[in-house]
Amino acid sequence: MSRSGGPIGSHSHTCSSTAESTAAKPKLSARKRKRSTKMTVFFTVLVLLLAFGGLVPVFAPLPSLSSHKSPHHHHHYKKMNVGKFEIDEDMFWKDGHPFQIIGGDLHYFRVLPEYWEDRLLRAKAMGLNTIQTYVPWNLHEPKPGKLVFKGIADLVSFLKLCQKLDLLVMLRAGPYICAEWDLGGFPAWLLAIKPALKLRSSDPAFLQLVEKWWGVLLPKIAPLLYDNGGPVVMVQIENEFGSYGDDKVYLHHLVTLARAHLGEDIILYTTDGGSRENLEKGTIRGDAVFSAVDFSAGEEPWPIFKLQKEFNAPGKSPPICSEFYTGWLTHWGEKIAKTDADYTATFLRKILSQNGSAVLYMAHGGTNFGFYNGANTGADESDYQPDLTSYDYDAPIKEAGDVENEKFNALRRVVQTYSAASLPSVPRDKMKTGYGPIQLQKTALLFDLLDTFDPADVVESENPISMETVGQMFGFLLYVYEYAGKDYGTGLHIPKVHDRAQVFVSCPSGDNSGRPTYVGTIERWSNQALSLPNARCASNITLYILVENMGRVNFGQYLFDEKGILSSVYLDEKTLHGWKMISIPFHNLNEEPKTSPIIHAAYSGFTKVSASARKNLEHKSENTSKEPAFYAGRFSIDKVNQVNDTYISFNGWGKGIAFINEFNIGRFWPSFGPQCNLYVPAPILRHGENIVVIFELESPNSELVVHSVDQPDFMCGSSKSNVHQL
Ligand SMILES: *[C@@H]1O[C@H](CO)[C@@H](O)[C@H](O)[C@H]1NC(C)=O
Ligand SMILES: *[C@@H]1O[C@H](CO)[C@@H](O)[C@H](O)[C@H]1NC(C)=O
Ligand SMILES: *[C@@H]1O[C@H](CO)[C@@H](O)[C@H](O)[C@H]1NC(C)=O
Ligand SMILES: *[C@@H]1O[C@H](CO)[C@@H](O)[C@H](O)[C@H]1NC(C)=O
Repeated sequence: MSRSGGPIGSHSHTCSSTAESTAAKPKLSARKRKRSTKMTVFFTVLVLLLAFGGLVPVFAPLPSLSSHKSPHHHHHYKKMNVGKFEIDEDMFWKDGHPFQIIGGDLHYFRVLPEYWEDRLLRAKAMGLNTIQTYVPWNLHEPKPGKLVFKGIADLVSFLKLCQKLDLLVMLRAGPYICAEWDLGGFPAWLLAIKPALKLRSSDPAFLQLVEKWWGVLLPKIAPLLYDNGGPVVMVQIENEFGSYGDDKVYLHHLVTLARAHLGEDIILYTTDGGSRENLEKGTIRGDAVFSAVDFSAGEEPWPIFKLQKEFNAPGKSPPICSEFYTGWLTHWGEKIAKTDADYTATFLRKILSQNGSAVLYMAHGGTNFGFYNGANTGADESDYQPDLTSYDYDAPIKEAGDVENEKFNALRRVVQTYSAASLPSVPRDKMKTGYGPIQLQKTALLFDLLDTFDPADVVESENPISMETVGQMFGFLLYVYEYAGKDYGTGLHIPKVHDRAQVFVSCPSGDNSGRPTYVGTIERWSNQALSLPNARCASNITLYILVENMGRVNFGQYLFDEKGILSSVYLDEKTLHGWKMISIPFHNLNEEPKTSPIIHAAYSGFTKVSASARKNLEHKSENTSKEPAFYAGRFSIDKVNQVNDTYISFNGWGKGIAFINEFNIGRFWPSFGPQCNLYVPAPILRHGENIVVIFELESPNSELVVHSVDQPDFMCGSSKSNVHQL
């Protein structure tokens, strides 16, 4: 269980809490535990009475809290029961036969729907019989009450596809999912609610919203449960709650809700890191909820499975690692994670060879398209570590679906050994095509577009307000402040900014005739004061602060991660009052492109840029080298050939976001690395003309060119931390 045995040195700051040394950690005192159990019982009964009223006998749905031998739950197993998925004799039983789960995580929201079947077939070819997926609440309810279940959010179609391909499903319904996904799957609008919600807790205001959401989600799942003829054999409650808190009332409430929608027979489960402390805090005692564990290759599985048993009723503890790490996530600024294929396979063998069950995390990682990547924090909230756009994860099925690699082969060999039937043949890797260099042109400078805004879209307030309060949940928000230069100092200080603020000033009476001049960048992780060049401006100065939301924290105590400027702003000692906030309205994954002057200029502008306007832009560019701007270009795919996947290489560009045919393919930051290329799946592309639009925050590549290439590249930038390698 020692850290040094694992592939990575720093698991504790991510979703994946591995078994930690428990000796050093304080345990709940017995007394406190007893008291909280009593309160839990009391509260649960109360909740049940409220939830079920007179409709159901009170005891039937009661999640058994106390003993392992609750008579209400002891029933005879119907092992010949076709159409049932059950737990007994420390095994899973499917249709009356012992069943070993050999599963893998594959998240529908990280793969284009056109590729769901392709990726599932590859998972099947590796020998997997089960797919585990999270459900991200934020993708499904981007605005309060606006529910989305289409496109990449078409969960029901995904589940039916799994069934068609004879794959079972373990569904991780949340509401919190971690997942290296913005805010752990919570909608950002939860952060705008006043008084502030206590996420992941029994705060009644929070629970009420969860109830509403699950009231929509779970009725869609109910007909797809295995006992009802669907693929879903287990439904997870919360995620690794033991790494976060010990609010059992919250967990019990989720169980009650789930049972109310899904009935008594479905196996509900929790997943926690394989340490006693995690399990004590995150599991629900008794036999109403099955406790599963997760851990890495490198940790001996069977001692952890033995521990798992202590948290399940007798005979109700089939050993399962519900997140067996096949790789690891990577943050911007790190070396790309790599774990050894044979090593991973060896530890999988240790589980499967003794009839243990395992779910590979990830079987196929996919991509954090749009603005949905999550982030971690270190020791404090300013130690901010955003995740890459790619979620390749060093998984056996690579980001573009490739399976011709050592890890896929090694894991497949192990699975084959313990599978009765022979595995389906392995599909070939898909063809990738480099469509070559794509010449772009600058279509607009951000600051030239500000005049085109409808004043109604500008929010004004005394103090700067957060993105969530403004209602701009993702992307960028521009804070504008005007002041008489002579009356103020020059030391700009913003104590709290999430996550990265580029600062510009303009002086209409100065040299640059009012053109905003770049002053510097204030970052959450290296916050410093900037010195503004005010002193000689005779007229008023306008201060522009462009703040990027780089992805909300998805794990740990700093989960409540609001974005934008979150403190007062100071010039020397003076607090600045009287702000304007202007939304920069980019669309996220699965959203329609917005109509706004900015988007218009960014997307279609380049076809209409007149020769004189272009000259003007070129002329200006000598003084605007660090000014955020839009660039657009096209490339053509000839009609006789099949359209293939590609990658766009951002070599020589600074930092920004990119759209292909209006699809937000995510963030690039090659100067920081390690990701240099963004994956572009073929379904985004089309025969004939394809359009690339880039919002570059800093400096473009000097030739204004990007390259469409046929492979990923994770070797660029100034990545500084240790290689994640054995
Ligand atoms: C695994 O399960 C099978 C079928 O139930 C059984 O025959 C076998 O002895 C088990 N192996 C181990 C190592 O427990
Ligand atoms: C200059 O800014 C101040 C606020 O600091 C404002 O009251 C004044 O009207 C501005 N002057 C002009 C000429 O815009
Ligand atoms: C660029 O800046 C220089 C000095 O600051 C100035 O002389 C020149 O006119 C500016 N050019 C444009 C296009 O604004
Ligand atoms: C896509 O790949 C196929 C298979 O190699 C190839 O024949 C075709 O030319 C490629 N398409 C394009 C547009 O290059």
